[in-house]
Amino acid sequence: MAKGKTTVFFCQSCGYESAKWMGQCPGCKEWNTFVEEMVEKKSAHKAGAVRKSDLQVLPLSKIEMTKEDRMSTQIKELDRVLGGGIVPGSMVLVGGDPGIGKSTLLLQVCKHLSEQQIKVLYISGEESLQQIKIRAERIGTFRDSLSLLCETNLDLIEEVIQREKPQVVVIDSIQTMYREAVSSSPGSVSQVRESTGTLMQIAKGMNISIFIVGHVTKEGVVAGPRVLEHMVDTVLYFEGDRHAAYRILRGVKNRFGSTNEIGVFEMREDGLSEVENPSEFMLNGRPQGASGSVVACSMEGTRPILLEIQALVCRSNFGMPRRTAAGTDYNRVNLLMAVLEKRLGIRMGECDAYINIAGGIKMNEPAIDLGIVLALISSYKEIPIDEHTICFGEVGLSGEVRAVNMAEQRVLEARKLGFDTCILPQACMDTLKKIDGIRLVGVRNVKEAIDFIK
Ligand code: TYD
Ligand code: MG
Repeated sequence: MAKGKTTVFFCQSCGYESAKWMGQCPGCKEWNTFVEEMVEKKSAHKAGAVRKSDLQVLPLSKIEMTKEDRMSTQIKELDRVLGGGIVPGSMVLVGGDPGIGKSTLLLQVCKHLSEQQIKVLYISGEESLQQIKIRAERIGTFRDSLSLLCETNLDLIEEVIQREKPQVVVIDSIQTMYREAVSSSPGSVSQVRESTGTLMQIAKGMNISIFIVGHVTKEGVVAGPRVLEHMVDTVLYFEGDRHAAYRILRGVKNRFGSTNEIGVFEMREDGLSEVENPSEFMLNGRPQGASGSVVACSMEGTRPILLEIQALVCRSNFGMPRRTAAGTDYNRVNLLMAVLEKRLGIRMGECDAYINIAGGIKMNEPAIDLGIVLALISSYKEIPIDEHTICFGEVGLSGEVRAVNMAEQRVLEARKLGFDTCILPQACMDTLKKIDGIRLVGVRNVKEAIDFIK
């Protein structure tokens, strides 16, 4: 082995470092993700070599504010998730399963940026120029301020960036990039970390905004985006079923804005198009007069989203009742069923129960608790809930319905979409101004809500 080098085992999923191989990663609990990699030994700092410097400390009040000029991507859904546009010199990681549409989205971003005469460089390590051209043909016509490069060697890429001085760079994907100085293969944890570090220096040093694509991988063959989440400024995850048309872009970390925002897109023939009113989209094709279906309202960042919660409760044929929850937390559903059993004496213990958030969207906000409860009861008792009724509220362990934030926005969104009755926590009623055109029903506990729908 070369002098100064050691081998270390890295979990390819979360980057956990270990001196010996392990079957299960203690960090992320994934199995068989450890891979041996060669790393340089870091030389220890020389003792006693403390430099005298003229570094100054500053009080907060002395620091001048410069208004950052964000670049708009012209895609409203993306701009909102980014916190109002691209911040110059920022690093954005776009993660997601292969084939979900990361390259398509970023190519569309490039198109819109280049239309504003912003110099963009798209670097692909995965596709040839011809392949990118084919994709670009589907999306539309491009301006010449967009240039392309197919390369995976970061040392060469750094040189090109220094020569071309683009304002925005897209790296597709980080798992194909490598630095010559690092001996492990592209996609390994040490390569991915080192490459991201290099890109970070370019971004901060030259004030270039860099988008990095990172594939999420289950098998642990290549390092996942989790490894570099903490290094970048903004982390966005693209999720959604590959077979469903819509995609959700979720902000997971954002140093320049709120993280709870989501953007909704639809994959079309000609690339991704924005879904401006996701509630309408999610409620499409709702059954009429069926039991076990109710509309609830969840906040995603600053935006309310209405969604249909479906429940199917039926007698179990086995000793162990089956429960599933698609799109929401399984344990939460079990807890709510226990509340119904204990507080209302509804014998759900001998029933199978299936909960589904229609449309395949994932929602975990506690405000949909009341919706889950009402859907369960509606299915159990076979009473359909009026289709113009909507509900929201958190359910506590003693069956009380607790207040949730931003009640007014939720009610207004429901009214906008033509709902005429809203079941909400009584505690929210006191803070709400009078809203015309929708009947507000405040409830203190689950029992009052159930009595109302009966
Ligand atoms: P892609 O952006 O290549 O995914 P990723 O970079 O995340 O791996 O998306 C590929 C999928 O999107 C592919 O299945 C084809 C589909 N697609 C469309 O439906 N319409 C389009 O206009 C484009 C460009 C792709
Ligand atoms: Mg791609």
